[in-house]
Amino acid sequence: EQTGKSGYDHFMLKEIHEQPTSLRQCLSGRVDELAGHITVEELTDLETPRSVQFVACGTSYHAAMYAAALLRDGGIPATAYLASEYATANPPIPDDTLVVGITQSGETADTMSALRDANSRGAETLALTNVVGSSAARECDHVLYIRAGPEIGVAATKTFSSQLIGATLLVENLLEETADRELIGALRDLPSNVQAILDNSNAEAVVDDFLESNAFFFIGRGTHFPVALEGALKFKEITYEHAEGFAAGELKHGPLALVTEHTPVFAVVTGNGENAHKTISNIKEVEARDAPVVVVTDGQSDAARYADAVLEIPETHEQMAPLLANVQLQLVAYHMANRLGRSIDKPRNLAKSVTVE
Ligand code: G6P
Repeated sequence: EQTGKSGYDHFMLKEIHEQPTSLRQCLSGRVDELAGHITVEELTDLETPRSVQFVACGTSYHAAMYAAALLRDGGIPATAYLASEYATANPPIPDDTLVVGITQSGETADTMSALRDANSRGAETLALTNVVGSSAARECDHVLYIRAGPEIGVAATKTFSSQLIGATLLVENLLEETADRELIGALRDLPSNVQAILDNSNAEAVVDDFLESNAFFFIGRGTHFPVALEGALKFKEITYEHAEGFAAGELKHGPLALVTEHTPVFAVVTGNGENAHKTISNIKEVEARDAPVVVVTDGQSDAARYADAVLEIPETHEQMAPLLANVQLQLVAYHMANRLGRSIDKPRNLAKSVTVE
């Protein structure tokens, strides 16, 4: 097993460090920088639908939230559903709807059941998955592989990053306009930007101050909201400490009652637009309650001024910032779990793939 870890203490850390490579694999042959094109060969026969519904569980659901936000931004109505809630939510499936299952394993029972339900109701289906020949890949009308390679750690890391890129590729394929040059440039720079974070992250030192804390909050707005949820999920999965992710603007509608000097708040703030300014206001609200604040930022706003610690990410296209911010939060979860001596690769009560509903 030690050989499989290539010298890393855990598969999770190895997989976090594999991200520059797994992202390159995901993008390979799909982005033509000279022509300014993003094309996914597997999807050439996929017509642009009138609306899209995503179904997914766990980490993959956070990728689904991100994907739906990108599509809506491009003018296509899109909603992300928790696969386990899809049947009871029972959303109408309008004509010309594509239902996309995001599932690393391609075997999650809840996701498969939602896809089968959608299929039986006449929707076209697509699997965004990592596993070639998985149930989702076989049963859906279309498949887009994220090509992340095998992931052994139960807590998903590199496959989440690749799902975000898979979502970007899918969305660019569905939107009929030509891809924006800046996005193509950001995709080209993505592996080296991730590498820069891996080489320079101070996450290990940051968590050292919080070993006695009893709850951890993660906040973000817009496409950083799923990153906040994912940051908290990763943290609770492997540290066994109480962690919650919130839309930054929702703090004041309840969770603020829990905020004290013992509850570190991790806030994701990039760019210097309205979203950043509103999140900075939310940071000030928790700071006023003496909570330690850690800001994950690209330095474009003055968010760092209100922080006790800063986790930096390189400046990039706003669509790529969530992925980079998430890499810092993966390292936060990993180092905290490691300091607490938790079972990182096989957390208690959890399975890599859940094949019961
Ligand atoms: C399990 C895993 C999670 C994963 C979820 C969905 O709960 O522990 O890490 O996100 O299943 O898995 P899938 O293979 O469908 O992405």
